[in-house]
Amino acid sequence: MLSVRNLDVQFASKENTVHAVKGISYTISPGESLGIVGESGSGKSVSAMAIMGLLPPTATISGDIDFNGQSLRDLSNKDYRRIRGKKIGYIFQNPLAALNPVFTVGNQMIETIQIHHGVTKPEARDLAIDYLNKVKITDAHQRIDDYPHQFSLGMCQRIMIAMTLSMKPELLIADEPTASLDVTTQKEILALMDELTAETNMAMMFISHDLAVVSERCDTVGVMHLGTMVEMGTPKDIFTSPKNDYTRTLIDAIPKISF
Ligand SMILES: Nc1ncnc2c1ncn2[C@@H]1O[C@H](COP(=O)(O)OP(=O)(O)O)[C@@H](O)[C@H]1O
Ligand SMILES: [Mg+2]
Repeated sequence: MLSVRNLDVQFASKENTVHAVKGISYTISPGESLGIVGESGSGKSVSAMAIMGLLPPTATISGDIDFNGQSLRDLSNKDYRRIRGKKIGYIFQNPLAALNPVFTVGNQMIETIQIHHGVTKPEARDLAIDYLNKVKITDAHQRIDDYPHQFSLGMCQRIMIAMTLSMKPELLIADEPTASLDVTTQKEILALMDELTAETNMAMMFISHDLAVVSERCDTVGVMHLGTMVEMGTPKDIFTSPKNDYTRTLIDAIPKISF
C-alpha cells in the first residue's frame, strides 16, 4: 500500500544545507504496522511529512513515494488534500497545534464526518458522539459542544484520535503521539490506540524515540540514525541480533528493572 524508495530530503539555506533524510526505503502493507525509532533529529518527522506532502518549499525531495500504486510525488496540492486525512490520517505530538481553538470539538468533527460518511448533519453529530465515546471522553454528548481549551492535553489527543479515525484512513501515521503527555496519560493513550487499531485493518506507521514502545506494538521496526535507516526487521530480530552499533545503544538504553 505504501512504498517509499530512496527518499532523500535536504533543506538548503544561505548558511548551510541540512541533509535530513538520506535515501531511506520501506514498505507498509494493509493491516501492517511499521515502527520508526531514532533519537531526536534523526529524520523521523521529516520523512513522515514528505509522505504527507507537508514539507516546506525549502525542502528538496528525491526518491519515490507510492501509495496504492499512485505516485504521491506528482500530486498537485488539490489532489494531495483528497488523500491527506482521508486515506492517510495523522496524529502529531502536539494535539493543540492540530485543533482549531475557535471552534467547538463538534464543529470540527461534524462537517468532516458528513463528508466522509455521506450522512446528514444530525446523523454526523451522533457519529461524532460515538467516536468521542470510543476514545473514552466522558459525557461526550455534552462535551462535544466544548472548545479545545476546556480539555486537558491528554483529552485533546483523544479528540485528535477520534477525529482522525472518523475519516476512516487506510494508513495512520502517528508521530510521537504521546510525547507531550505525562507518563500515566501516555500509557492510557497507547492502550487506547492499540484497542482502536485492533478493531480495524488500518495500516500504521508509528514514530517514537522509544524502542520499547515501537517494539511492543509494531510488526516491523526501522531504526533511523542521522537520516539513514540503519536497521530494519521484526522486533525479535532487532532485539536478538541487532546488526548495528546504534541499535545496540538503543537496546542498552531500555531500563531493566531487577529486584
Ligand atoms: N523545516 C526545516 N528546515 C530546516 N531543517 C529542518 C526542517 N525540519 C527539520 N529539519 C532538520 O532535519 C533534521 C531531522 O529533523 P526531524 O525529522 O524533525 O527529526 P526527528 O527524528 O526528531 O523527528 C534535523 O536536523 C532538523 O533540524
Ligand atoms: Mg520528530
